[in-house]
Amino acid sequence: MKKATIIVDQDFSIGRVDERLFGSFIEHLGRAVYGGIYDPGNSRSDEAGFRQDVIELVRKLNVPIVRYPGGNFVSGFNWEDSIGPREHRPARLDLAWSTTETNQFGLHEFCHWSEKVGSQVMYAVNLGTRGMEAARNVVEYANHSGGSYWSDLRRVNGSEKPFGIKLWCLGNEMDGPWQIGQKTAYEYGRSANETAKVMKWVDPSIEVVACGSSAYDMPSFGSWELEMLDQCYENVDYVSLHRYYSNSANDTPSFLAKSVDMDAFIKTVVSLCDAAGGKKHTKKKLNLSFDEWNVWYHSQEQDKQIMKQNRWGQSLPVLEDVYNFEDALLVGSLLITLLRNSDRVKIACLAQLVNVIAPIMTSQNGCWVQTIYWPFLHASLYGRGIALRPVINSPLYDCTDFAAVPLLDATAVLGDDGSLTIFAVNRSLQDDLELSCDLRAFQSLKFKEHIVLHHDNPKAVNIESAPNTVVPVVRQDGQLQDGHFKVQIPALSWNVLNFNTP
Ligand code: AHR
Repeated sequence: MKKATIIVDQDFSIGRVDERLFGSFIEHLGRAVYGGIYDPGNSRSDEAGFRQDVIELVRKLNVPIVRYPGGNFVSGFNWEDSIGPREHRPARLDLAWSTTETNQFGLHEFCHWSEKVGSQVMYAVNLGTRGMEAARNVVEYANHSGGSYWSDLRRVNGSEKPFGIKLWCLGNEMDGPWQIGQKTAYEYGRSANETAKVMKWVDPSIEVVACGSSAYDMPSFGSWELEMLDQCYENVDYVSLHRYYSNSANDTPSFLAKSVDMDAFIKTVVSLCDAAGGKKHTKKKLNLSFDEWNVWYHSQEQDKQIMKQNRWGQSLPVLEDVYNFEDALLVGSLLITLLRNSDRVKIACLAQLVNVIAPIMTSQNGCWVQTIYWPFLHASLYGRGIALRPVINSPLYDCTDFAAVPLLDATAVLGDDGSLTIFAVNRSLQDDLELSCDLRAFQSLKFKEHIVLHHDNPKAVNIESAPNTVVPVVRQDGQLQDGHFKVQIPALSWNVLNFNTP
């Protein structure tokens, strides 16, 4: 059997994991809002029209922050359309997704829903068709206590208390030609700077995220970051990264190695931020907000047809990727990568949360969880505390897209209660790994459990009629003696090794 080793010690620490690393995203797109989190008339919905079965699943995930309302959608959105009496809210054409937005669910509803699921709001402002005027007004509306036009309007609209939104995105993917109001790096940098400045004048306690380039492989990537940060470095707090992975070539070894790309992407953006800061002779460091990440490719061909045939339709079943088991493995590795880079990545949003490239799916009759729900749940539950930097020795493999990829992808987190969790993916298609963990630094810990997500078929999926095809099992198969722990981790598996104090 192939062997791998891992040494974990609390002295090798990356730092405290910002819990916002386990954030997610709801866009006005497809059935994410309408028919997803909001479904008035459905027997599973509460008096506000919120699907209670969805709320329950989101609560279990313990998502600390949810980005809203877009995405591409935000670049044509008037936030004012989404407040006030519903019968007065206009229906608008959404040019981003060629649908009609009724605005029946808006800012108040989202803040109310977020409170119910126990999340904070990460609100994106429109820097496509709008700018700093609309942005400063929405900050005043959401966060100012009262005595001004916009804050009093919020109170008239039913929310005496301010929403207290602390994190704001300055637009979305502004270098993309698909974006409504695409900008050059200079144009965007200037607009982001002035917008951030006045938003913070309204509420100095907020933090803002500047749009990095839309993707690592965009021609503008790199020069975009440097040029736009040249304009807005001092007024922004984070730079965004977006990345979606696909296995359209049906090359599983390369697909499972794609977290290597995420790691390189993060490290490059850190360098770009530090170079931009260095040029300004400032001590201020920018952190990263990886506010869109996931696997996305299964639905793309079908979506073209649906959108073409239903132009200006409402809540269309688009971007409804049905995730398989190997997608869950990559999502596990991507989470490991985010944890390993959590000294600079402070926010990350799994894109998205419900129905649209999502871990949670709904129908009129209920909801179920996709394969990717499981690693996200485990990371969110056990990945909080101090991220450690384990020393890993693993057999390597070469594949079409990458060389020398470790079969074992792993990291460790020390919980505030003294517990230790090791997350591990075995990327091998055929070989189990005998994993030896040197835990001599944690003599008082006891082995609690080994959670394994595995399926013999990498293409196995969870669907409404068979929702439990890919589910984790709990094993007690590890042996801990004198600080040495041994366990077998199956070929193609996501593993959570939990240790706690007696
Ligand atoms: O998450 C789906 C879309 O992907 C978002 O609207 C956009 O920001 C990205 O291109």
